[in-house]
Amino acid sequence: GKKRTVRDIIDQKGTGDKIVMLTAYDASFGRLLDRSGVEIVLVGDSLGMVLLGYESTVPVTMEEMLHHCRAVKHGVERALLVGDMPFLSYQVDKREAIANAGRFLKEAGCDAVKVEGGLEICETVAAMVRAGIPVMGHIGLTPQTAGALGGYKVQGKDGESARRLLAEAKGLAEAGVFALVLECIPDKLAGAITASIAIPTIGIGAGVQCDGQVLVSHDLLGMFEKFVPSFVKRYADLAPQIAGGINAFRDEVKSGVYPDAEHSFVMQGEVADLLKQ
Ligand code: KIV
Ligand code: NA
Repeated sequence: GKKRTVRDIIDQKGTGDKIVMLTAYDASFGRLLDRSGVEIVLVGDSLGMVLLGYESTVPVTMEEMLHHCRAVKHGVERALLVGDMPFLSYQVDKREAIANAGRFLKEAGCDAVKVEGGLEICETVAAMVRAGIPVMGHIGLTPQTAGALGGYKVQGKDGESARRLLAEAKGLAEAGVFALVLECIPDKLAGAITASIAIPTIGIGAGVQCDGQVLVSHDLLGMFEKFVPSFVKRYADLAPQIAGGINAFRDEVKSGVYPDAEHSFVMQGEVADLLKQ
């Protein structure tokens, strides 16, 4: 198969061929997604909550993101690999944003970066794009600033907020993002935003009218049970299966059933003779 490019993703808009994006934090997950033909693999800063046990994505560092991006890179051959820029790695100033984004491409093998925010980051996004860095946007419920939004809530429910989201989408498209994540906004508003910009929208809790969909893989597979948003559909229920396997191993170790001969290097003859040889 051929390596997917940002241009391929842009060209998918309006073809009816929906863009599939999922998260991965390690090589084995990246490989599974890549083999299934997922178009975009996102190393999300959700790894802070899903893997590292943080309360939010706020504490996630550049080093943590790069570490996991490098791992995922080893499993991904065809999919576009996008690295999520962590909180305050792109908001301080343009130079720092470009330098940090560059690390995702140069040190971790990512094809693009994703940043959260609206009009306040458009100038920075434009500077990053001018520097040659493909950037994906992310508006609506932006987890890095969920505190300021009043929690993990649906955005764009009133006219003012809906108009602001539309303006943000247009601003970011103009700034040069190649795709835009819409998180937790009403379906028809997502449809209106999708119709108003020339680049693809990728929804999460944003209805079926987006050009693509993204979910946290651990959520759809039932592996992260701490908090499951209502828009997540469970396509597998792995946590009980994982627990079942662990419990069976524990029981067989305790009772001496494991390892049996089949799972041992069975030696012929006596150990005393071996030691004498
Ligand atoms: O961090 C993440 O996983 C994300 C996606 C859910 C869009 O930003
Ligand atoms: Na994220």
